[in-house]
Amino acid sequence: MTTQPITLIDDPLVAARQSTIDLLQSHRHGFSLPQPFYNDERLHAIDMQEIFGQEWLFVGMTCEIPAKGNFISLDIGDNPVIVLRGAEGKVAAFHNVCRHRGSRLCMKEKGKVAKLVCPYHQWTYELDGRLLFAGSDMGDDFDLGEYGLKPVNVRTAGGFIFISLADVPPAFEEFPATLDRYMAPYDMENAKVAVESTLIEETNWKLVIENNRECYHCSGAHPELLNSLMEFDDTEDPRATPAYKALVAKKGADWDAQQVPWKMTRVGLQNRMTRTPLLDGAVSMTADGRQACRKLMGHLQSADMGSLRILHLPNSWNHFMGDHAVVFRVIPLGPQKTMVTTKWLVHKDAIEGIDYDPQAMRMVWDATNDQDRKLAEENQRGINSKAYQPGPYSPTFERGIIDFLDWYKERLLSHLGAQSPQLYAVES
Ligand code: FES
Ligand SMILES: [Fe+2]
Repeated sequence: MTTQPITLIDDPLVAARQSTIDLLQSHRHGFSLPQPFYNDERLHAIDMQEIFGQEWLFVGMTCEIPAKGNFISLDIGDNPVIVLRGAEGKVAAFHNVCRHRGSRLCMKEKGKVAKLVCPYHQWTYELDGRLLFAGSDMGDDFDLGEYGLKPVNVRTAGGFIFISLADVPPAFEEFPATLDRYMAPYDMENAKVAVESTLIEETNWKLVIENNRECYHCSGAHPELLNSLMEFDDTEDPRATPAYKALVAKKGADWDAQQVPWKMTRVGLQNRMTRTPLLDGAVSMTADGRQACRKLMGHLQSADMGSLRILHLPNSWNHFMGDHAVVFRVIPLGPQKTMVTTKWLVHKDAIEGIDYDPQAMRMVWDATNDQDRKLAEENQRGINSKAYQPGPYSPTFERGIIDFLDWYKERLLSHLGAQSPQLYAVES
């Protein structure tokens, strides 16, 4: 369904769009962005329209809506969205906006319904979005068929749910197919969320992602995380030691024997997937490196699966181990405010208190998230200063950020109808 955005005569974003193009085209590759990208209201509005309003976003896991009528809802900026399980197990997504006078239909973040009933005047919708009931006062010639919920593009793969608010969403084939293959052993339809957390961070969403894309800060910030995780996950990384390379060869042979995918796979700069060994002897991201859940995920035969790390720009990174998984979702709330949701998942038959202790399971990532929150908030405070000027990323230790910003710049320029400078040819 195509909707023309309504442009006010003095739309301030018209000038801001051109300034954004100019800033991006003159941005020095390998350096952090100019200040407005991190703190300006207009740049935030452009991010919400052109990145979060166009790209495929991670919103949740299919196992969170296991049965017909289960739903999750969230707001992407000004756009409330509901994702639900309809008839025959199909996952559908709609704008969470009543077609009568526009009230938000569903106010809970998750739940189960037979039908979607608007709280304002009780217009009632079927789970496939059709309007079923609008009272008897709309007149004899009222056509229910004209007032169905507006659909949102949705795609599931490997237990992940992605949506795009675009009228014509970007191509999205190779990554879902790859994700299906990497995730098959985890059988995510038979998983469940054991525990979750929501952090509101006083920082721009790009600083959250930038912080996640490098482990340059890990040795100074993350003692709990480094009990199980290495600071690199790629044998091509300049930090990769001969011992790491030998461990990858050994574990890779084990995983090949189990027919579990593990090799580094990239889809452009938007997606990256690799299974990397944890520190030798550790099987899970816990305080002592031991399993947090006795029951393994999916069809896995061994707890010793390292960590399958999955990146999806602009808003998710994930760790899948043998016994549990940790998924992360980033949603901007303002130029300097971002929601980070973390969910810990286990096999659906694992029993709390017998197979796992949620407090023990969440400890390492609760600590790490809070440490990362402080780092990103301090980064924001310094960037807000008149003294800030873009600084250089390490071409090796911060390669992941350079890749993220190359992706961001290319996508933003493309959505703004401008050409990219030679992003990928430089210093790569
Ligand atoms: S706004 Fe939904 S029924 Fe009136
Ligand atoms: Fe960190």
